[in-house]
Amino acid sequence: MKLPKLPAPPLPNALQGRPERPGDDKRQGPVEQVKEAGISAVDWVDERTSLSGGLRWLMFRKVPKGTNWFYTLGSATMFAFLSQAVTGVFLAMYYRPDATGGAYESIRHLTNEVFLGEFVRGMHKWGSSVMVILVFLHMARTFFFGAYKYPRELNWVIGGVLLILTMVMSFTGYLLPFDQRSYWATIVGVNINGTGPLVGPYLSDFLRGGAEFGATTLSRFYAIHMLMIPGAIAALIGAHLYLVAKLGTTAPPWLKANGDDRLEQDRV
Ligand code: HEM
Repeated sequence: MKLPKLPAPPLPNALQGRPERPGDDKRQGPVEQVKEAGISAVDWVDERTSLSGGLRWLMFRKVPKGTNWFYTLGSATMFAFLSQAVTGVFLAMYYRPDATGGAYESIRHLTNEVFLGEFVRGMHKWGSSVMVILVFLHMARTFFFGAYKYPRELNWVIGGVLLILTMVMSFTGYLLPFDQRSYWATIVGVNINGTGPLVGPYLSDFLRGGAEFGATTLSRFYAIHMLMIPGAIAALIGAHLYLVAKLGTTAPPWLKANGDDRLEQDRV
C-alpha cells in the first residue's frame, strides 16, 4: 500500500530566511554579493550560536551621568595586558630557560640578530611598567570614586588579586634574561619574601625550587611567568568584567554628593 506523503514540519524561526523587505534587490550581482559577504558570515555564525545576544548584553548598556576619562583606566590596563600577552608569545619563540648561559645567549640573539627582536622585547619590557602604573591608577580611581562599596566589594577583592598577580608577573619576568642584574636583584627579592611572617621561609623555598638559587629557579620562574599567572589573570579579568557588566559602573562622587547618582537607565 502506498503511504500518503506527510507535510514537511515547519522550520524553526531561527532557520527561516530573512523576511523580504521593500527595496530588496533580488538581482544581486557578484559585487553586491562580495559587499554582503561579511554580513552573511556574521549572520551565519549568529544563527547557529545566538552570540549577538551576549554581545549586546555586554556592550550596549547605559552608563551613569558624569562618566569621564578616568573610567577608561581599567580598559587601558586590560589592553596593556593583551599587549604583554602578544609580545610575550613572540619572545617565547626565541627564549630558552637555560641557566648555563643559554638564557642570556637566547636574549642576546633575539635583541641583536632577530628581525624586530629588540623592538618586541622593548615593547614587552616597557609595557610591563606601563601595566603596573595603569593598574595602580585604575585602583586609585575606583577607590576615590567609592566603587569598592556595596555591591562591588567582590570586584574590589578580585581587583586586589589582579594587582598581586601583576606584581608577580613583573617579579618573575625580571629574572628571565639571567644577566648579572636580574640574577642578583631576584636573589634580593626572594630573600625579602623569606623574611615574611610564617609563610615567608616556605615561600622563598618554593620560589627557589629548593635551598639553592639555580637552574630549577629559572625554569620555575619561567613556568610561573608564562603559564600559571597569565592564565589566572585572564580568567580573573573575565570575572572582573562580568561583574562590571552586571552591576554597572559607579557614578562620580560629586554627583552622589548632590543626591543625583541615578543611572541614565533609571530616567527612561
Ligand atoms: C589586570 C588588572 C585589572 C584590569 C584589566 C581591570 C579592568 C577593569 C575594567 C575594564 C573596569 C570597567 C571600567 C573602569 O571602571 O575602569 C574595571 C572596573 C573596576 N575595577 Fe578593575 N581592573 C584591574 C585591576 C583592578 C584593581 C587592582 C582593583 C582594586 C583593587 C580593581 C577594582 C575595580 C572596581 C571596584 C571596578 C568597578 C568600578 C565601578 O563600578 O565604577 N580593578 N576594572
